[in-house]
Amino acid sequence: MSSRRWRVQPAATPLRGAFDLPGDKSIGHRALIFSALAKGTSTLRNLSGGDDNLRTRAALAAMGVAMRDEGAALVVDGVGLDGLKRPSHDLDCGNSGTTMRLLAGVLAAQDFSSRMVGDASLSKRPMGRITRPLRGRGARIEGTLDGVRRDEVAPLEILALDGGKRLFELEYELPVASAQVKSCLLLSGLWADGVTALREPHVTRDHTERMMSSLGVPLRTMGSAVMLDPAGWDGVLAPLDLDVPGDPSSAAFLVVAAHMVAGSRIAARRVCTNPTRTGFLEVLRDMGGGALVDPKGERGGEPVGNLQVGIGNTGTLRSAARVGGELAVRCIDEIPALVAAAAVAPGESVFDDVGELRVKESDRIAALVEMVRAFGLDADAQGDTLTVRGGRPRGGAVVRSHGDHRIAMAAAVLGLAAGGETLIDDVACVDTSFPGFAAILRGLGATLDVVET
Ligand code: S3P
Repeated sequence: MSSRRWRVQPAATPLRGAFDLPGDKSIGHRALIFSALAKGTSTLRNLSGGDDNLRTRAALAAMGVAMRDEGAALVVDGVGLDGLKRPSHDLDCGNSGTTMRLLAGVLAAQDFSSRMVGDASLSKRPMGRITRPLRGRGARIEGTLDGVRRDEVAPLEILALDGGKRLFELEYELPVASAQVKSCLLLSGLWADGVTALREPHVTRDHTERMMSSLGVPLRTMGSAVMLDPAGWDGVLAPLDLDVPGDPSSAAFLVVAAHMVAGSRIAARRVCTNPTRTGFLEVLRDMGGGALVDPKGERGGEPVGNLQVGIGNTGTLRSAARVGGELAVRCIDEIPALVAAAAVAPGESVFDDVGELRVKESDRIAALVEMVRAFGLDADAQGDTLTVRGGRPRGGAVVRSHGDHRIAMAAAVLGLAAGGETLIDDVACVDTSFPGFAAILRGLGATLDVVET
């Protein structure tokens, strides 16, 4: 089996340039699902092209949704809420937790049976957090019991609702702050008799709510509470015409990269600046750096802006990071990038309340501790807290990605500040979210070679 590695050299010159980013992965999944369920034809531009979004696309196609590429756009012929067909094979979600958890909410409400599978990493991730509340509203969904993790994991078996049956109402307090769980339950609520009323411990990304509201779904939010009440609704979702904003989680690696090399000046154009996603900019600002946000209006109910680093105070790290509580939720996917920043910032950075990182594409807490140590720096983890003591990386490093795209990209960025060459193994996983990462980083002036072995 072939494997891809990166060889990264310490940056010899400041990073310079402006770039566009692939569409936001979270918004991409939702845009595909809602286009499929809409009445009419949707047009989606700037979908990420990463494998995760492609898995959602393929699963919907397997349920009879016609989609075609027209130039740079994807055109989707929506089938309406009652138009999905039984897939003739297992739905393979690959590495994509969002595909599996969001589609579970859709499939649980159908009058056909289905089965979802994932790759080795996804098959270890907890699914009880969606199967339990879905069963609580009458769904017939079962994961596979994992004795070690004491949870249900993929494959997920979903049985048809008996002739004419619908899901019940659901009032539910989420035990974990998870937009995937929230979105799964809201999606299932489209086919329920009665309300779906949810409350989360902290507000998580709200793309599902924004998109549902803009398509005419009767939904209300108040702080960390959200309610979908279909009473009196005609059950018709309007089609979308959407230019997906750039992915802030991808931008985070390049924003941090610019902080690794003094004098860098970069701009990421038209990035989604939804506040549920931009916690990383607040953390970097509190560390003395950050990015200037130049607002560029809205796309599909989401704010967008250009992120500029290297202007005014941005671009230099003067103190350690302090993350926890609701802020940890708003930068959960950017913690790997922030750990790279913390590794070179003065002082001890503390990331509290990040236990969820243990059940992402890898055990990110363990992988990040290993990454920081590989650079000759100090990090440790206790319970839900990750601590990084910043310094100057001696020499280079050899880093294992653990098959996790965000660990691979964090290591590449930290490699720019290293004292020697950094080798990162198993980087094909970056294609799940950001296939163009290496090319963009090179375009900014970094030296990163791709080695196929
Ligand atoms: C996502 C929600 C988050 C995030 C993931 C994408 C989404 O996961 O980490 O990358 O699109 O809803 P959780 O819901 O597990 O927190």
